[in-house]
Amino acid sequence: MCGIVGYVGSRNSVPLLIEGLKRLEYRGYDSAGVAVLNGHGLETRRAEGKIAKLEQVLAVTPAEGGLGIGHTRWATHGPPAERNAHPHLSNDGTIALVHNGIIENYAELKQGLKAQGYVFHSDTDTEVLTNLVQELYGGRLEDAVLAALERGEGTYGIAVVSTRDPGKIVAARKGSPLLVGLGDGEHFIASDASAILAHTREVVYLNDGDLAVVRKDGYRVFDMKATTLDRPVAKIDWELAQIERGGYDHFMLKEIFEQPQTLENTMRGRVVLEDGMSKLGGINLSHDELLTIDQVIITACGTSWHSALIGEMLIEDLARIPVEVEYASEFRYRNPIVTPNTLCIVISQSGETADTLAAMREAKRRGAKTLGLVNVVGSTIAREDDGGIYLHAGPEIGVASTKAFTSQVVALALLALKLGRKRQLSSVRGREIAQALLDLPAQVKQILDRAPEIEALAERYKDAQNFLYLGRGYNFPTALEGALKLKEISYIHAEGYPAAEMKHGPIALIDENMPVVFIAPHDAVFDKVVSNIQEVKARRGRIICLTSREEHMLEGLVDHEIRIPPTLDMLTPVLASVPLQLLAYYIAVKRGANVDQPRNLAKSVTVE
Ligand code: AGP
Repeated sequence: MCGIVGYVGSRNSVPLLIEGLKRLEYRGYDSAGVAVLNGHGLETRRAEGKIAKLEQVLAVTPAEGGLGIGHTRWATHGPPAERNAHPHLSNDGTIALVHNGIIENYAELKQGLKAQGYVFHSDTDTEVLTNLVQELYGGRLEDAVLAALERGEGTYGIAVVSTRDPGKIVAARKGSPLLVGLGDGEHFIASDASAILAHTREVVYLNDGDLAVVRKDGYRVFDMKATTLDRPVAKIDWELAQIERGGYDHFMLKEIFEQPQTLENTMRGRVVLEDGMSKLGGINLSHDELLTIDQVIITACGTSWHSALIGEMLIEDLARIPVEVEYASEFRYRNPIVTPNTLCIVISQSGETADTLAAMREAKRRGAKTLGLVNVVGSTIAREDDGGIYLHAGPEIGVASTKAFTSQVVALALLALKLGRKRQLSSVRGREIAQALLDLPAQVKQILDRAPEIEALAERYKDAQNFLYLGRGYNFPTALEGALKLKEISYIHAEGYPAAEMKHGPIALIDENMPVVFIAPHDAVFDKVVSNIQEVKARRGRIICLTSREEHMLEGLVDHEIRIPPTLDMLTPVLASVPLQLLAYYIAVKRGANVDQPRNLAKSVTVE
C-alpha cells in the first residue's frame, strides 16, 4: 500500500518523482520523501503528511539530479513521522532505500548491526535493511542488495541508490508490486503503472524474487542467484484520463458513475445470448476439468469477500456445485479440505492483497486449480493464478471499492452461467440470465439519473451515529457491502445483518435515532422482509427501503423509499448496491470526510 517511484535519465528527477507520487498517494499516505543523486552526493527530503507537505520542503530547500527515488508511506512499523518517512539513509550517508512490505526479522538484524556500532534514527524495519546493505557493500550495489535480502525474511518492494555506485537504481520485489518503466534514454521504477503512465506505456513487471538494475540507457532483471531473466515487456492500455478525476469531485463519485460503462466492459464479448451461455477465454479450464469440479472455495477480503458471498449463491443456484466462502486471512491459517477437483476462486480488485495472495498460494500448494477475478492487469494474483477473469473495470482509485464490486458480481454470474450450462442449466434459463445481465448497464444508468434523490436523503441522515443495513438471500451480502461503504468513508458505525437475524440481538438497538436500511426488491423473500420492516416500525426505527416496484404493503410503513428497476433475484445486488454507494458517498461528503483517502485505510493492503 505504499507508493514507490524511481527515475534515471537526463531530466531532473524531482518533478517526475513528485508527479508520480501524487498518482500513487491513494495507495498509502501518512508521509512521503525523495532521495536524489546529483554528482555532489545524496540528498533526501522527507515530510509527514500529504505530498503537498513534501513539496513545501522542496520549495524551501530544492534538490536536483538525474537519478532519484521517491516513496509515499502507510505506516506498518513506527508512527507517521518525518523520522520514519522513506527514503532511509545508511549510517555512512552513501545509500538511500525506499521499501514497501515488512521485514519480519528486522529486530534481530538491528541487534546485530547495533553490536557493530550502527545507530538508528527511526522505528522502521526499512532503516535496518538500508544499513544492512551498507554493511554488506563490497563494490557493486546490486550484490549488496541481494546479500541483504537473503538475510531478511518477509516481503518487500524496494528501490536503492548509492553514491558509491552512481548511475543505477537497484530494485527488488517479493510480495509487493514493482515494475520497470522503459523510456527513450531514461528508465523508471514504480509500484503501480499509473505513476509513470504520462511518460511511458512500456513496462516490465517484476515477479517475486526478481531484482533489477536500472540505468539511463537500459535495465537488467535477474534472480536471487544472479541469473539474468528475460521478462516480457507489457503495454499499458489505460488512458491517463481514466486515472484523472474526469471532472468529478472525487474519484469515488467518478467510479460510481462509470458503472454503466464498466459493467459493459466486464461483459464485452463474454455473453452469448442466443445460446444462453458465457464465453470466458482466460479461465484455462477444459470442458472436462469444468465438469470434474466438485467443490468451489471462494476466498477474498473486504468488499471482494462480499461479492464472494453472492458468488456462492450464484454457483450453487445455477451449477449445483457446493461452494464455501472463506476470509483469505482465515483460510491461509486453517487446515482446509482441498482436492484436485477443488476450484479456488480468488477475488481481488488490486490483485495485490497480501492475505488473498497467500490464500491462493496455499490453495495451489494443496492441489486446487485457482481462478483469479482481478481488476488490475499484470498484478501478482493475476500472474500467479492458473486462470482468470479480468474485470476490465479500469483503474479504481477511490479507496472504497464501488465499480469493482458490481463488476465482480457480474463476472461471478458469467462464471456461474458457464458452469451451470455445462451441467443441467437449460438454454431457456440461460438466455433469461444472459438477457438480464445485458440489461444491467441501462438499469444502473436509470438509478444514477436519480442521484439527487439520494443526496437529499443523505442530507437527512448525515448526523446519525449508527446505521443498520438489513437484507435477505442475495441481498444479505448487499447489506454487508452497504454498511462497509458507509463506515469506511463517513466513519459512522454501520452493521449489515440478515433481515430475519435482526430479532436475535440487533433489534435492541432500534429506536427513533436508528436509521435502518432495508434492501427489499420484489424477490422471493419480499414478504418476509416486509415482516421485518413491521418489527422495526413497531420500535420507532427510521426506515429507508430500497425496493423494485410500487407496493401497497409498504404504505405507511417506510419513511423513505428508493426505487430500483426490477431484475432477476440473483442480479439485484448489482442494482441495489448503487444507491447504497451513493448514500455513503453523499453522507461522507456532507460530513467533510476525505472520501478518496479515508483515515487509516489504503487502497491495497499488501501487508498481513
Ligand atoms: C472496500 O471498499 C475496501 N477498500 C476493502 O475492503 C477492499 O475491498 C479489500 O481490502 C480487498 O481489496 P482487493 O479487492 O484489492 O483484494
